[in-house]
Amino acid sequence: MFSSRTVIFLAFIAASSISWACSSGASSKSKPYVLANDQTYEATLFRQNCAVCHGREGEGTVLPNGTVIPSLRDAHHKFNTRAEIFNQITHGGNGMTPFDRQLTDKERQLLTDLVYSKLRGGK
Ligand code: HEC
Repeated sequence: MFSSRTVIFLAFIAASSISWACSSGASSKSKPYVLANDQTYEATLFRQNCAVCHGREGEGTVLPNGTVIPSLRDAHHKFNTRAEIFNQITHGGNGMTPFDRQLTDKERQLLTDLVYSKLRGGK
């Protein structure tokens, strides 16, 4: 028969494979959004234009010169509506460069949606 250690070992394997199956399930709604895995055009725009300040995942940082770059993911934001976010991307301000010349209206709209829906989970 199995020794009790073998049984405990098998139970451990079973439990860990169940939790693995749950956390890796594609349908898992709680799975956090990972920008680095997003191959859309807007995610590429973010990597090219925004990550230098806001970080690869939009997590924010403090630059060497002391400028505080806000996280684009946190629950608390200065700008909340799509219009406010679009306006910030267009005109910048307070340490952020404006993007009205670098990016088209459509591109700034796509980035607004990325921040609002994907990073902040808004509908
Ligand atoms: C030069 C650094 C820099 C770059 C590049 C930059 N940002 Fe910012 N961003 C900032 C700073 C600093 C703030 C804070 C402004 C303030 O407090 O008014 C900010 C604020 C924001 C906010 C508002 C955050 C809030 O709390 O509501 C959004 C949204 C945003 N940035 C999106 C973007 C996007 C999208 C891009 C790329 C197109 C981008 N930023 C590029 C520095 C930058």
